[in-house]
Amino acid sequence: MPKLFGISLFIVLLGLAILKTSASGGQQKKIRQKREWIIPPRKLKENYAEYQRWDSIAKIRSDEETRTSIRYSLTGPGADSPPINLFTVDRDKGLVKIHGVLDREETPTYHLRGVAKFLNGSYAEKDIDLIIKVEDENDCVPVLNFTTGSVPELSARDTFVTKITATDADEEGTLHTKISYSIAEKSHADMFYINRETGQIFVMHNTLDREKKDTYTLTIKATDMNGAPNGFTGTGTAVIKILDVNDNIPTLEKNFETKPVISP
Ligand SMILES: *[C@@H]1O[C@H](CO)[C@@H](O)[C@H](O)[C@H]1NC(C)=O
Ligand SMILES: *[C@@H]1O[C@H](CO)[C@@H](O)[C@H](O)[C@H]1NC(C)=O
Repeated sequence: MPKLFGISLFIVLLGLAILKTSASGGQQKKIRQKREWIIPPRKLKENYAEYQRWDSIAKIRSDEETRTSIRYSLTGPGADSPPINLFTVDRDKGLVKIHGVLDREETPTYHLRGVAKFLNGSYAEKDIDLIIKVEDENDCVPVLNFTTGSVPELSARDTFVTKITATDADEEGTLHTKISYSIAEKSHADMFYINRETGQIFVMHNTLDREKKDTYTLTIKATDMNGAPNGFTGTGTAVIKILDVNDNIPTLEKNFETKPVISP
């Protein structure tokens, strides 16, 4: 099956002698469009070593091939500029081969150009675009930065404290980078909760008391695949300082109002 790939399936012949006609002043003009080989973007998986054993992953072709001998070559990053010779082409048949393993996070797309020349060195036709799109695999673990925040003691339930954000180098807008946040068990998950989608951390109970505990260190987990069991999990730390609201003064004021001190 790999052999068949690219030989004919991925090549579409466009513009086969299209005749455009337009009437102007009773006279008909005929414009003949040149034949052109268009190769749709070729999708290749990252981390897939097997492609290197294939006879070809694509094929470039000039119609002049039917008339005379053609010499094919490839140009562009990944061919004649770094990474040099990741892709090569068979100079007689136009078969494109790959000689390495792709990494989407490093290079998501290769813009190669196929060159077709006559034996005398002159160009047989315009360069042929060959675009290689690298398909993402979930191969990156979410990374969480150290985050700090603070909240006054006795804050009401649902008071916003801070927000933690994970970064994931996989492809944006896919499940591979869809993060689900959680607070690790036994990590004060009883005093704070986190919005699993946004990473925002909130107060769980209105009983935070700086005099009892002035700093909470939470272990935050970020799991891609929207938290699915097959997702990768990264962990980070959020340090939350409990701020003093000088809660002794209101008590005194209250005492003062209700039980005014009477001088003897
Ligand atoms: C090169 O060879 C091709 C095909 O034989 C021919 O059409 C073209 O005119 C030649 N060009 C030159 C510069 O000799
Ligand atoms: C994490 O910190 C680094 C370095 O300070 C910064 O470049 C990066 O954008 C931060 N990432 C997030 C998700 O905040």
